[in-house]
Amino acid sequence: MSQDPKVLVVGAGGREHAIVRALLRSATLTAADGGAAAQIHATPGNPGIADDVSVHDVAVDDVAGLVTLARELAVELVAVGPEVPLVAGLVDALADAGIAAFGPSAAAARLEGSKAFAKEIMIAAGVPTAGYETVTTVEAGMSAITGYPVVLKYDGLAAGKGVVIAEDEQTARATLVDMLEDHQFGDAAVVVEQFLRGEEVSLLAVCDGERAIPLAPAQDYKRIFDGDEGPNTGGMGSYSPVVGIDAERVAEISAQVHQPIVDELNRRGIPFHGVLYAGLMIDGDDVRVLEYNTRFGDPETQAVLPRLRSDLYDLMVRSATVGGLAGVTLEWDDRWAVTLVLASAGYPASASKGDVISGLDAVAEATEVTHAGTARDADGRIVTAGGRVLNVTALGATPADARDAVYAATEAVTFDGRQLRTDIALRPVERFSTAT
Ligand code: AMP
Ligand code: GLY
Repeated sequence: MSQDPKVLVVGAGGREHAIVRALLRSATLTAADGGAAAQIHATPGNPGIADDVSVHDVAVDDVAGLVTLARELAVELVAVGPEVPLVAGLVDALADAGIAAFGPSAAAARLEGSKAFAKEIMIAAGVPTAGYETVTTVEAGMSAITGYPVVLKYDGLAAGKGVVIAEDEQTARATLVDMLEDHQFGDAAVVVEQFLRGEEVSLLAVCDGERAIPLAPAQDYKRIFDGDEGPNTGGMGSYSPVVGIDAERVAEISAQVHQPIVDELNRRGIPFHGVLYAGLMIDGDDVRVLEYNTRFGDPETQAVLPRLRSDLYDLMVRSATVGGLAGVTLEWDDRWAVTLVLASAGYPASASKGDVISGLDAVAEATEVTHAGTARDADGRIVTAGGRVLNVTALGATPADARDAVYAATEAVTFDGRQLRTDIALRPVERFSTAT
């Protein structure tokens, strides 16, 4: 490692703010001249990230601009947050410029970019998943359906909006028409998938092209309203770890859902580096993969990284090198983390912008507030600027302690139309008390 480790974080959301916070705790970066904050850059960032480290104004989809920025800053590593630059080939372009990156190549990011490719790899790797058929016409889609509900997945990046669970024939047909005929992006395809029941768990692993090291498990809450009602969002809250999935079970599941994918991609000459995120449906002993993402989850990261005791910078640098993670074991804080998302009025259909946020200074020290959709207005006030606005994370000895702390801290933070779920992490609170 060079004398002056420097990292550029790409992204503008709560996930990237949580990554910046974890990098600020890195022993490697802290030991550098000037301390950790001087070693960390972010682009484009947000007002919360800008309070912590230097930010730049290159957008996440400007691959050439990002390479130029990384070169100018002479960073040792670029840590890529969102999927868009991954699928666009940022990591490949950085490799051509001789700059290491935390994240997969475009070829490996197809696991997230194409649902059909992901399914094909899962089958080849022997990973348990839901039965499916890939179709390109409405009629083929209708005849692939064997019962309701059925899951219809658009075969491309759709910012979390490409999955429809159709309860009846009419909805299924309308969805297929919408996905295959109304917005034709080149050769559109849809994955028609068996509906699975159970409990969703996000299990992420850091990969070095050869091996996958699992992170602590988490759960997120995708629907906008309490009781998992209403439309899907990017995620309204999360917590970690998960009751019933201890370290041993994590290792078992990871061996079923991460390592075979890394091995299969390797056989095809596509080493996987960065985070492999398995979205799981768990029903007793039955574990199946719903989807892969090729990056940290948002808002899972906001709950998982505050519990990571190991040096995130070191982990990221190792992940960029083939075999770099050999011998690494991760250390975790035993406490529970709960993350609550505060969303703006109108989300997820729209997002209210410019609502002034107050109370940020009053949030307890022990709480971690990360910014997502915020901006500074002409008067320097922090205002809403997106759907998911802020994340509040607290740690506690029990799920109840963490949950109580997060809701208490959040009372102070207000803005017009603020939306939040009141049932985040109720599940582990109930189970933890009955399990012990
Ligand atoms: P995906 O983007 O594939 O994770 O799908 C988004 C959400 O749709 C998931 O988080 C699940 O809640 C739901 N979902 C996806 N596939 C299935 C399935 N086969 N059975 C039941 N629910 C599913
Ligand atoms: N929390 C779901 C995701 O990051 O895709």
